[in-house]
Amino acid sequence: MSKKLILGVDVGASGIKGALVDMVKGKMVTERFRVPTPSPATPKNMAKAFKQIIEHFDYSGPIGCGFPAIIKDNVAKSASNIDESWIGVDISEVFEKEAGCPVFVTNDADAAGVAEMNFGLGKGKKGVVVLITIGTGLGSAMFIDGKLIPNTEFGHFYLKDQSKVAEAYAADSIRKKKDLSWSEFGKRFNEYLEVLERITSPNLIILGGGSSKKFDNFKKKIKIETEVVPAELRNEAGIIGAATYGYQKSKQLVTS
Ligand code: BGC
Repeated sequence: MSKKLILGVDVGASGIKGALVDMVKGKMVTERFRVPTPSPATPKNMAKAFKQIIEHFDYSGPIGCGFPAIIKDNVAKSASNIDESWIGVDISEVFEKEAGCPVFVTNDADAAGVAEMNFGLGKGKKGVVVLITIGTGLGSAMFIDGKLIPNTEFGHFYLKDQSKVAEAYAADSIRKKKDLSWSEFGKRFNEYLEVLERITSPNLIILGGGSSKKFDNFKKKIKIETEVVPAELRNEAGIIGAATYGYQKSKQLVTS
């Protein structure tokens, strides 16, 4: 297998998805393989699901993984949409034990951002770029002159007049749960973007995650000054970014 093909795994609250990614082109070279996220989403159960992805691709080598939590030195520091028993756990260690390969873990939205900055709309963009993933939760990635500031968690600030964190008001899971029309959802999402814009003053906002594909359905309601665009890599960004992160980290490991 070429050294430039890396397995990227995007761990989400509802599914764990993987594909082989060509690191030169920043493109998936296989179909995406998905395993539902087990319930409860404990380390033990998720490690088993993670292994199924590796077995499916019969893969050995470095793996890049996006994971839906604050991650510091491979350790999960939060667990909003996964089991709380992840907090304090070394994610790489848990997955490596099952996978038998080195696993490099980063926040899932940071991974999607890395993909978009390397291979998508953010390529060569200077200044502040913020990417928001819209899914079960709201994930965020922030870049300054192309450099990531990790774990920004912009889905977790409080919105004016709301007693809940932003993702409990404007994530796609809430649209589905409350059966909101696209116009109602767009209005909520615009309220969210207004605060995001005020606190980050970005040059560009990119929307990623599954529902970025549906941007046309709610873009009329987005009225902030900053340019808002759907991600070019759409929901492949999570996998491509995870692989990119794994590739970059594994190279550091080899050279140092
Ligand atoms: C988590 C983030 C994650 C986002 C998207 C949020 O609930 O706190 O870490 O990036 O969901 O999965």
